[in-house]
Amino acid sequence: MTHHTIVTMPGDGIGNQVVPEALRVLKAVGFDADYIHADIGWDFWRSEGNALPDRTIELLTKHKLGLFGAITSKPKKDAETELDPKLRGKGYVYYSPIVTMRQQFNLDICMRPCVGFPGNPLNYIRKKPNGEFEEPQINATIFRQNTEGMYSGVEWTNPPEAVRSALKSHPKFQPFAGVRGGDLAVSVRIVTRPAAQRIVTAAFEYAKKKGFKAVTICEKPNVVRETSGMMEETAKEIQASKYPEIQLWRNNIDAQLMWLNKNPETFNVIVASNLFGDILSDAFAGLVGGLGFAASGNIGDEVAVFEPTHGSAPKYAALNPPIVNPIATILAAAMLVEYVGEFDKAKKIWDAVAAVVKDGKVRTYDMMRLTGGPKVLEQGAASTPEMTDAILRKLKQ
Ligand code: NAI
Ligand code: MG
Repeated sequence: MTHHTIVTMPGDGIGNQVVPEALRVLKAVGFDADYIHADIGWDFWRSEGNALPDRTIELLTKHKLGLFGAITSKPKKDAETELDPKLRGKGYVYYSPIVTMRQQFNLDICMRPCVGFPGNPLNYIRKKPNGEFEEPQINATIFRQNTEGMYSGVEWTNPPEAVRSALKSHPKFQPFAGVRGGDLAVSVRIVTRPAAQRIVTAAFEYAKKKGFKAVTICEKPNVVRETSGMMEETAKEIQASKYPEIQLWRNNIDAQLMWLNKNPETFNVIVASNLFGDILSDAFAGLVGGLGFAASGNIGDEVAVFEPTHGSAPKYAALNPPIVNPIATILAAAMLVEYVGEFDKAKKIWDAVAAVVKDGKVRTYDMMRLTGGPKVLEQGAASTPEMTDAILRKLKQ
């Protein structure tokens, strides 16, 4: 068993409530690790003009494994007003630290398992033609390209002349050529073949390891011919050359979202570019319990950072005791444990969560479909630490 050092980055808001809960679970399962706290988030933007301080980057560079909570991101104008007056006007620009982190360490594989736990009242149910309801077992993992596509950040409002003239060289730009400077916004969708190959390969490797029969690529190559085209072509090539035993299914992103309501259990592994993968993984997460259950891994060659998909939920951040569901972060921790090859311990965590959900005795407010707030505890919801307590009890059994 290897000893690990995990860089913990609780960040903002409820990140500070859920990360400590995941650490309780990691300790209880006997994961052999030290935990080093690292700064990230809004406070560091305000006080230092940098939401992802260099010291945090150094810690991640050194230890290579991170558990991240969530950060608060605000629009450009708010970011400027909230910056320490001493730093204003000095050229500081707010960048989302998680996006920066993904780019800095080339965490280009985003893996998002969406697995329904039996007994979760939030699970998707389907009405059959005879009027009865059924609850299909959903087990889908979305592989989302994490560093390029629509999120490459190459964008302008009022693009500079050089960009305009490049755009004008494309015949399809003619209808937009007369649009006045500030009225024109352009975001560039970039796909590179090596990155497409890496995300597609990660999806196929996962399907192979787990014994799934197909990988689905979700793009829109009939319309977005170049970038979606490259994603789909890459998937075809890789499937044919390296994974002939696994099928490649091709669905347009819009159709896939529609089909989620029809047969979501059919899909086990889905691969997509950045924006489509983001939308798709949220859509799938909604079928298996929503943000309280959605975990994600950002995986590069060197560094990997695991996190709940949700944000900092500021409106619940001040509640004591906290009420939010720690399961997403606990599952993110389980993904980390699996990533380093400690499969038994990862499975123990998943099984303990599954057992608590199945019992149905301990549920956070989201699992009861309550509106969040301090009252939910009187209404029978478990607090954040109570949910973890229940998971720890199952771990001991
Ligand atoms: P959010 O994910 O923070 O919260 C949306 C709603 O989902 C909450 O109000 C709550 O009702 C529910 N929710 C979230 N986490 C939950 C949990 N663990 N248990 C139960 N319910 C939960 O998204 P929102 O409100 O759009 O953004 C708040 C802040 O978080 C913003 O500043 C945003 O930029 C940031 N954000 C950060 C992300 C990250 O750190 N990766 C991702 C998404 C948003
Ligand atoms: Mg999202």
